[in-house]
Amino acid sequence: MMQECWNVGVPFLFFFVAYSSPPANPISCSFKGRNCIVANSYGAFSDRATCVSSLVVYPTTEDELLYVVSEGTHARQKMRVVTRFSHSMTKLACADGENSRLISTEYQNKTLSINKDAMTITVESGVSLRQLIEDAAKAGLALRMAPYWWGLTVGGMMSTGAHGSSWEGGHGGTAFHDYVTEMRIVNPAAPDERYATVRIINGNDLIELDASRVSLGVFGVISQVTVQLELMFKRSITYMTVKDTDLVETIERHGRRYEFAELTWYPSLGKLVYRMDERVSMNISGNGSYNYIFFTAKPSDYLAFERSREEEMELQRKSEKICTLAHDVTSSLSYIPYGLTNNGTTYDGYPVIGKQSDMMSSGGYLDSKEDGLATVCPWDSRVKSQFFHKTTFTIPVENVKGFITDIKSLVKIEPKALCGLDLYNGFLIRYVQAYSAYLGSKFEGVEFEFTYCRSRDPLIPRMHQDFLEEIEQMGLFKYGGLPHWGKNRNVAFINVVEKYKDAALFLEVKKTFDPLGLFSSEWTNAVLGLRGNVTVDTEGCWRSLTVIKFKVP
Ligand SMILES: *[C@@H]1O[C@H](CO)[C@@H](O)[C@H](O)[C@H]1NC(C)=O
Ligand SMILES: *[C@@H]1O[C@H](CO)[C@@H](O)[C@H](O)[C@H]1NC(C)=O
Ligand SMILES: *[C@@H]1O[C@H](CO)[C@@H](O)[C@H](O)[C@H]1NC(C)=O
Ligand SMILES: *[C@@H]1O[C@H](CO)[C@@H](O)[C@H](O)[C@H]1NC(C)=O
Ligand SMILES: *[C@@H]1O[C@H](CO)[C@@H](O)[C@H](O)[C@H]1NC(C)=O
Repeated sequence: MMQECWNVGVPFLFFFVAYSSPPANPISCSFKGRNCIVANSYGAFSDRATCVSSLVVYPTTEDELLYVVSEGTHARQKMRVVTRFSHSMTKLACADGENSRLISTEYQNKTLSINKDAMTITVESGVSLRQLIEDAAKAGLALRMAPYWWGLTVGGMMSTGAHGSSWEGGHGGTAFHDYVTEMRIVNPAAPDERYATVRIINGNDLIELDASRVSLGVFGVISQVTVQLELMFKRSITYMTVKDTDLVETIERHGRRYEFAELTWYPSLGKLVYRMDERVSMNISGNGSYNYIFFTAKPSDYLAFERSREEEMELQRKSEKICTLAHDVTSSLSYIPYGLTNNGTTYDGYPVIGKQSDMMSSGGYLDSKEDGLATVCPWDSRVKSQFFHKTTFTIPVENVKGFITDIKSLVKIEPKALCGLDLYNGFLIRYVQAYSAYLGSKFEGVEFEFTYCRSRDPLIPRMHQDFLEEIEQMGLFKYGGLPHWGKNRNVAFINVVEKYKDAALFLEVKKTFDPLGLFSSEWTNAVLGLRGNVTVDTEGCWRSLTVIKFKVP
């Protein structure tokens, strides 16, 4: 039965999806841009709330942006930026309440120029990752590092520190923001400057640049960004599945060996998938592409069926069934390796070689034609579909072996405990490099990301929640993990600024750019250690920090 269900899913990958509903707009207003509610694409932020704002504005040019920031500053309104896609789980898109102003970058989505000699592209901040990659590719240029999901904007990727995977230092950092050479930010200003100003930030002032690379939106509105590209290159990808016995010994070596190395670890299934991924010459033949299977649109009926089945297994605590399903699903993945194809439609063997612009990121149905929610992105909150959470942190390389050993000890206590996590594709393990952004990673590390079922009812703990929380706490507190700004439960951000040695410099620049803190919210203030608490004690088990101790044999 389960095998059958999965088989139903497989063909969807191979059909070109001409019709499928684009993601919901995250903002809904009761009256012409007033009395608005902002959500993310999952329909709920980390703490399950959505946020209200009295007003949303849609500037289309930098002049209009200056005008709307000026208006807001004059009125001393709290302001936040919201993007077309709103994919952060954390409350970055929330302004503080009733009398606040949201500034959407939805219409600031133009590529402004490409400089072929300098190999740079200049775009407005609402440009999607997809658009940036495609426009660069038309000029024979490639972006080296970016996340895998196309549905993010340039401003959004910068504000959350979104990244790819690589330890190879010779080419630059791991994150998108490491490739930014110049940006223009619109800040609040004094009355004699008409309440708003454009700052040009580049290598002439490294403190401002490294503070602004990742700013959580608290400096003002990013208007334009110039990104360093390189000549188009090709990548060669091969996946290899093995038992996870040698993970501790090989994790570091794998990261040193391949420029774009990555791993997927299924701890309850005892499986490890190496992604051997490196750059090859443009003149090697291959027209492969990567259409990541977890980002492809699916029929709503099928998603509803999958979700009901999952809810039932969770409620009845059927870990045996979840393990079987996780096994079947992950085994099927090796036949259609995660969405890799050798020519855009068919997979017929490794290595898959293709252009960087076709291999790095995907999510192709994003701009397909509307079909009235018959086919949607798997986490579309307008239909019954996936509802999950992601915990994501980067651990310093010297602590990685200890962390993995601890997880393996947990699996020994209860071998089935992490099948739910394996069903969501286990731990995605990526290699993160030290770079210069003040709120970016400052050490060479390994990022662990895991996704797990979330109940629609906040009072129902997920199956084996104790195990997942134990792993979360070990990663974040015992092994010094840096949480991803756009993912995670709030508990990940307890005292997080203490983990950044340049946080004080960041806060100084913040004071210069936005002295009144108009672009700060309760959430950013709490996270930056300025005011208020990150976590709240309340009924249910999704917000507070519970400390559960296991005996490790
Ligand atoms: C920019 O966004 C608007 C509004 O969503 C859309 O109509 C337009 O097609 C977009 N332009 C580009 C170049 O994507
Ligand atoms: C392929 O490219 C490499 C450098 O990228 C070059 O040295 C080599 O001569 C090229 N081979 C052919 C057949 O063009
Ligand atoms: C890809 O290759 C398969 C066979 O290997 C072929 O049937 C199919 O038409 C090819 N698709 C394209 C777009 O070339
Ligand atoms: C390579 O694949 C892309 C789509 O993946 C297609 O648009 C292009 O025509 C293909 N080029 C060749 C030479 O087959
Ligand atoms: C923050 O948390 C501490 C300890 O739980 C508590 O004493 C304090 O009242 C909280 N502050 C706010 C503003 O909620």
